[in-house]
Amino acid sequence: MSIRSGRTSDYNLGLPLLEKLYHGDIGLDLKQAFIDYVRKENGVVLFAEDAGKVVGILVGSFQLDIDWEGKTGKIDAIIVDEKQRRRGVGRKLVQRFLAWAKRKGCKAVKARINRENDVAQEFHRSLGFEEAETYEYFLDFDHPRES
Ligand SMILES: CC(C)(COP(=O)(O)OP(=O)(O)OC[C@H]1O[C@@H](n2cnc3c(N)ncnc32)[C@H](O)[C@@H]1OP(=O)(O)O)[C@@H](O)C(=O)NCCC(=O)NCCS
Repeated sequence: MSIRSGRTSDYNLGLPLLEKLYHGDIGLDLKQAFIDYVRKENGVVLFAEDAGKVVGILVGSFQLDIDWEGKTGKIDAIIVDEKQRRRGVGRKLVQRFLAWAKRKGCKAVKARINRENDVAQEFHRSLGFEEAETYEYFLDFDHPRES
């Protein structure tokens, strides 16, 4: 199994796994977002491949972070093919991302995990991540909450 950086032409290759991650809820802008992650200095897409087949994907980025007095990396998405889980693919993807974030001068790496996703929580803990004390809030410009 090997890990490599994605190219802009890899979108269709990664799509089946991304569709699984987002339960088929893929919008029109995902392709452009994928291309931006590949092209821009503060984004990266990592592909895990085994025998020529994509078995995992990690989408990550880094940004300024005043709390950390510098920059932090963020795992924006990670998924491993169901049949290939528990074989260290996810760990390898994250380790490669941590090395990338360090090279970019980040002081830490963050990950957003659904509260009900016990597996992802266990996975991140096993890799040394600690649970933050913060909640995440968002405001959707296209679909603002009706108050
Ligand atoms: C989370 C995910 C990426 C882990 O990928 P993976 O390749 O199976 O993980 P690894 O094999 O590298 O596991 C590394 C460690 O994480 C922990 N872990 C992984 N899966 C686990 C599970 N089902 N139950 C308990 N611990 C688990 C273990 O400590 C494991 O080490 P071990 O196998 O030596 O015990 C994968 O389960 C997945 O794609 N889930 C669906 C998508 C998802 O939830 N993404 C995260 C959104 S934030």
